[in-house]
Amino acid sequence: MPQILVERLAKSYRVAERAPGLTGALNGLLRRRSREVKALVDLSFSLEAGELLAFIGPNGAGKSTTVKILSGILRPSSGRVEVAGLVPYEDRLRHVARIGVVFGQRSQLWWDLPVLDGFDLLADIYRIAPVRYRRRRDELVALLRLDSLLAQPVRQLSLGQRMRAEFAAALLHEPEILFLDEPTIGLDAPSKLAVRDFVKRLNREQNVTVLLTTHDMHDVEALAERVIVIGQGRLLADSSLDRLRAGVFAERRLWVDFAQQAPALDMPGVQVRARTARSLELAFDPAKIPAASLIAAIAAAHAVDDIHVEEPAIEEVIARFYDLHYSSEA
Ligand SMILES: Nc1ncnc2c1ncn2[C@@H]1O[C@H](COP(=O)(O)OP(=O)(O)OP(=O)(O)O)[C@@H](O)[C@H]1O
Ligand SMILES: [Mg+2]
Repeated sequence: MPQILVERLAKSYRVAERAPGLTGALNGLLRRRSREVKALVDLSFSLEAGELLAFIGPNGAGKSTTVKILSGILRPSSGRVEVAGLVPYEDRLRHVARIGVVFGQRSQLWWDLPVLDGFDLLADIYRIAPVRYRRRRDELVALLRLDSLLAQPVRQLSLGQRMRAEFAAALLHEPEILFLDEPTIGLDAPSKLAVRDFVKRLNREQNVTVLLTTHDMHDVEALAERVIVIGQGRLLADSSLDRLRAGVFAERRLWVDFAQQAPALDMPGVQVRARTARSLELAFDPAKIPAASLIAAIAAAHAVDDIHVEEPAIEEVIARFYDLHYSSEA
């Protein structure tokens, strides 16, 4: 039984529709008309305990909606969700004791309270035993370098400082599952690195299951072996970045400088695209021969001065993936 199970999940929002150009009483009447927005249409996936999943997709794909359903904030229109044996939106109290949630776009801390007072309040809310709370809090304060911030009201913190406090707040009750909705949004490079490092350690060392949404493909590259891509409320891919890349860029390039005359080179799945006296530009299909095997084979057979492979930028891979998908659908 997987730890997180999502089956045929659908969620529609009702939004009020305003008739354009109308004002006053008439508009008041018409305003009651509403329209349905299908945020999730049919989404299924499952996650084992201890996995770290990047959950990505273009704006409006339904990522935050999914996170809100998984964390019990929203009830789906149809479908089934189970998280650690509980239905989040039906058994909220027991559910929230097992999960932590961080939304990059909003705070769960009390704006006017010092950070430490907020932590104390959360300890009350989660009914954490005092000894256990202090031990965990001190551990998180050290890990997230929060000492100098504890006395400050949350509203005075910079975004990066606040995100560190948010992580601590989400983890005080030692949840086994963590949902992160764009936790690195707006952070500077060092803060992003710190968040990635922290999330990775939490997953590796404390075996916390992590589901992370992000638009920063470096987050994905640094953190996740598994990537789910959704679009328009449906699953588009459940894969790894490497496999997404191979699927999008069927052909990759390799440049080799030889110490002597460039050889004829006859290898299955590899074409010579250009040559000079001492160098070759090769095209290969990474699904047939992985770059590492190709490099090893060439280096074993020839004296090589330099070799490099073209790595498409990860943003480019994802943009191409969305493009290919939506153009094949249209
Ligand atoms: N409270 C709401 N009321 C009405 N429509 C909503 C609401 N929340 C989300 N939606 C709509 O549902 C769809 C999915 O939104 P959602 O926030 O889940 O997307 P997302 O993948 O998180 O996007 P982003 O990358 O921009 O954060 C969008 O069309 C959005 O406009
Ligand atoms: Mg979102």
